[in-house]
Amino acid sequence: MGTKGREIVGVNVDKLLKMMNKAYADEWLAHYQYWVGAKVATGRMRGIVAEELAEHAEEELKHAEMLAERILQLGGTLLITPEALLKENNCGYDAPTDPSTKALLDQNIKGEQCAIDTYKKLFDFVQGKDPITEKIILEILEDEVEHEDDLQMMLEDMKEPVSAKPVIAAKPVKAKPAKTKK
Ligand SMILES: [Fe+2]
Ligand SMILES: [Fe+2]
Repeated sequence: MGTKGREIVGVNVDKLLKMMNKAYADEWLAHYQYWVGAKVATGRMRGIVAEELAEHAEEELKHAEMLAERILQLGGTLLITPEALLKENNCGYDAPTDPSTKALLDQNIKGEQCAIDTYKKLFDFVQGKDPITEKIILEILEDEVEHEDDLQMMLEDMKEPVSAKPVIAAKPVKAKPAKTKK
């Protein structure tokens, strides 16, 4: 990276790179977990849940890109094999062995909570010492907090009993008086 750009980083860059690479691995694993979950989802609210999972999958991939760019800028190297991603991460990979929407939401909420912990630690590490990384981490952290909230709200919606009757009674349609031809 540029010498001046490196000079302004007030933390141990090797340690930072290690933390960022682990978060980078988390993002790829989260991306796939969401992506494949969206494909296999079954059961209640399947359409809405699958759509949300697919949207999160895209955002996790965007996070991986943001981290990759900064890792390279800091002179680091990226994890380049699936084996390394599975070995060097914080949150692991939860295969959607139970494709029911409830199980998918539960496992991805767990993943988001781990991501929130990870980015809070990273944020505390760089806060006030590396403004560029701090900005990136804060942006990702905001997304992860939103992701957890989205999934928990869906889980709540799922608990609503399915009503046999429509919630709002349909208005009776008044029959129009037949027009009489003149
Ligand atoms: Fe993410
Ligand atoms: Fe997320």
